[in-house]
Order: sequence, then C-alpha cells, then structure tokens
Amino acid sequence: MSRIVYVNGDYLPEDEAKVSIFDRGFLMADGVYEVTTIIDGKLIDFDGHFQRLERSLGELDIENPLPREDWLEVHRQLVAQNDVEQGMIYLQVTRGAPGDRDFVFPDPETTTPTVVLFSQSNPALVDSPKAQQGIKVVTIDDIRWGRRDIKTVQLLYPSMGKMMAIKQGADDAWMVQDGAVTEGTSNNAYIIKDGRIITRALSNDILHGITRAAVLRFAREAQMPVEERSFTVEEAKAADEAFVTSASAFVMPVVEIDGTTLGNGAPGPLALRLREIYIEESRKSAI
Ligand code: PDD
Repeated sequence: MSRIVYVNGDYLPEDEAKVSIFDRGFLMADGVYEVTTIIDGKLIDFDGHFQRLERSLGELDIENPLPREDWLEVHRQLVAQNDVEQGMIYLQVTRGAPGDRDFVFPDPETTTPTVVLFSQSNPALVDSPKAQQGIKVVTIDDIRWGRRDIKTVQLLYPSMGKMMAIKQGADDAWMVQDGAVTEGTSNNAYIIKDGRIITRALSNDILHGITRAAVLRFAREAQMPVEERSFTVEEAKAADEAFVTSASAFVMPVVEIDGTTLGNGAPGPLALRLREIYIEESRKSAI
C-alpha cells in the first residue's frame, strides 16, 4: 500500500505529491517543521507542537496557514489513512514558491505557504532496543546559527554531526559552545549528578523541546530536583547518568561521552524511570 501524504490541501499517494522547484524551503531552507509522535494511534503532546509551530512561524513572519482544528484533522487523517500505531507525523511549512529565486521575501498576498505532512511508522518506538542499551555520544563544536529556538528545516549541520558520531563508532553528537553543551543534534541533553537533573536553560541557543518541558514537569512532580543551567563536557563525563529527550527518542539514556563510560556503562536508573513515567503519562494524555 502506498503511503498517503498531505500537500497543500490534498491527500495523495506519496509518488503523486509534488512541490515546486522554486519553493523557498528547497532553495533557502526558508521553512519550519514539527515532529509529533504517535503511540497507540494517538498524538502525543499535539498542543505543545502546535504552539511551537505558531511561534516558529511568527518569528519568521510566515502566516500560520491553518487553524488548530485543521492541523489536528490532517494529523488524524494521516494516522488513520496510513494505519499508524507507533511512529510520527512530520509537518513542514515553508514560505512558499514565488516562481523565481530572490533573497527578498515574496509578497504573502500572492505567495502562500507550502504545507506538507507525512507519516512514518516505527513499531519499535516504545520498546526501543537502543533504550535498553543506551547510546554513545561524541562532542562537536556547535557552529549553527544563533536562532536555534526556531525549528527551521536548516538541518545540514545536525546531519553532519550525526555522521561525525557514526564515523567514530558512536550514535549521536552533543554540540558544545564556549565549553558548555548546548544540545544533541536532534534532542535536548541532560546529565544527572547526585540525584539532580541538570539541563541547559532555555534561550536562543537551543530548541525549546516539547519533550523537555514534559519530562522536567514529570521529574518535578516525582520530587526529582531539576537544575536548568549550562554544564561542561568535563562535568558531563563525571556525571552519574546522562540522557537525551526528543519526540522520537522520548527519554534515551546516554552511557558514553567521548569514549568515557558513565557509571557501569548501563542506562542509569533515573533515566530509565523518567522514560517509563514519560511514556505512561504521554499515553494517558494522547489525543
Ligand atoms: N528533533 N533539539 C533539537 C536540535 C531538535 O532537533 C529536537 C527535535 C529537540 C527535541 O525537541 P522535541 O522534544 O520537541 O522533539 C531538541 C526532532 C525530533 C527531529 O528533528 O526529528
């Protein structure tokens, strides 16, 4: 069965879906995206992702092309039409296709945003073998632009970072600026020391993760102390535990940083507990 995707108001088989070569997403990475997880055929934290989408669009002066209810309907249609039990919905909005290449933004009256959504199934999302083992990370310089709080489709450096990690036999990279960890290539980064969960505070330096917000809320509710502050690579290597969070990884334990093993090399108990709580609570509030 061919996957059904959504493009600018139409539901189409994936090989019939088309976007212009003049689309500013394609030519200039002038667009934003969201990734919303599906568990049990339901959407996790839809409203968090919707609100961040509105914020990203607002920061780039792109008008939100659809009201919340329509976004929700498209997400649900794709889940239903593609029979997704576990996986994700990818959503992308670009400034549209003005019909020529120009650095100047096109007139929004004549060039409307391009909207693309598609689903990806991943039956191993919840019972992830990686989560049992934990992942290894290496550190790399954070050379991205200064507005990482906007979820743009400029993902070349994060993608290169992931490849640098794989070449070194690791799974992912943590990016470092002025000696402190900013975030992972596609996730937020945390360490745990003496029972305290430490993660960089929100600013333009990192993406404001929807999973981060939920996990910190659950941690505080479970009386786990949280410190929102920067931490160095040295501090991370000396931590008891570490983990990353994202819509697609949930809470993923980190067991090695730049070749230094954390604890006994197995996923830490607090990270695993947070993963359990996150999945349990997300299932309850999924829509
Ligand atoms: N990435 N930081 C970066 C740089 C990210 O790309 C992501 C998400 C996160 C975590 O955000 P959230 O918890 O809202 O997923 C943090 C998505 C999953 C991706 O690009 O596939």
